[in-house]
Amino acid sequence: MKQLIFIQSCFILFIACQAIDPTVICHGGAGSVDPSRYVGKFKGTVLAVQLGYQKLKESGNALDAVEIAIKSMEVDENFNAGYGAVLTSDGEVEMDACIMDGSNMKVGAITGMQDIFHPITLARRVMEKTKYNFLGPKGAMDLAKKEGFEFLPKGTLATQRAKDSLERWRQAQNVSLGEMVGEGGTVGCVAIDANGNVVAGTSTGGLTGKMPGRIGDTPIVGAGTYADNYMGGLSATGTGEVIMKSVLIYDILKRVNLTEITIQKAAQDACDEMLERYEDDGGVIGVDRYGNTAIAFSSEQMSWAYQNKDNEIHYGINKGDDFLYNIAECKNKNCFV
Ligand SMILES: *[C@@H]1O[C@H](CO)[C@@H](O)[C@H](O)[C@H]1NC(C)=O
Ligand SMILES: *[C@@H]1O[C@H](CO)[C@@H](O)[C@H](O)[C@H]1NC(C)=O
Repeated sequence: MKQLIFIQSCFILFIACQAIDPTVICHGGAGSVDPSRYVGKFKGTVLAVQLGYQKLKESGNALDAVEIAIKSMEVDENFNAGYGAVLTSDGEVEMDACIMDGSNMKVGAITGMQDIFHPITLARRVMEKTKYNFLGPKGAMDLAKKEGFEFLPKGTLATQRAKDSLERWRQAQNVSLGEMVGEGGTVGCVAIDANGNVVAGTSTGGLTGKMPGRIGDTPIVGAGTYADNYMGGLSATGTGEVIMKSVLIYDILKRVNLTEITIQKAAQDACDEMLERYEDDGGVIGVDRYGNTAIAFSSEQMSWAYQNKDNEIHYGINKGDDFLYNIAECKNKNCFV
């Protein structure tokens, strides 16, 4: 029905279809987030969508918008990506990232990256500079060198918070492994421009205490990240092992593509079904091909924000949240306390 109205209004008005509001939507990870950590997540996700939206308005390029938005969370220690990435059982950072362009179905993904600030930018290089989709650590590292990426001194990306978290994981390990996923903090963004070009990206440090070499859903096309102008785009966060075998994002987009349900309902249904079947949770953010947003999670919290109007950003972290951040009003005061 919605598609019909869209096509008809374009036809009747006989103008370029401007029914799509350029939109940038991001998440800052699903999990159990302590209230003391909310403000940091709010600030980081709101800043990310603001930067992404500005870029989208300036350049009209959804790829640039997703990249700049994710980069801002990769340098923010409040998130588990880039600086602030969690540590493996060996105490090392191993980061995964993926970006996909729904206008040409190109995709770039990397895994096991160390000592670079911006895995999302390297994933974009895989997409643009190679004929492959997905590079493992050696190939990705070689490409980063070739592309002139800065390599940080070993250990630079490991924050005190990540070290403390690993220590807690080590102590609790033989008690309960299942509860150690923690607050998550994977980051991901989706942007759609006025012409319906959709791009999705995700970047993560994975799980605290993960076995070296473990890969989650983030860089897996269709599980953690996917974009297709015909369907929309989504980025996932949560327990990678179950998101991967649920092929979560592709499943959601296909439900929308093949039935009449909204992307919001499809996304919430899929997250709830995953929880019911595997007792592990997760969440997604994104848009359908018309720019309708989806924010869904089965975890206790998931931080998110989106912008699709010039002065207003929506954000939240608990179920039912929909706070409004007015850019002009909040310029000179802290709106998050
Ligand atoms: C691991 O479990 C054993 C036996 O249940 C206990 O004695 C020990 O203190 C635990 N270790 C840690 C680091 O919690
Ligand atoms: C579903 O996706 C196909 C491409 O895979 C596209 O041609 C079709 O228009 C889509 N249908 C809807 C209802 O969005």
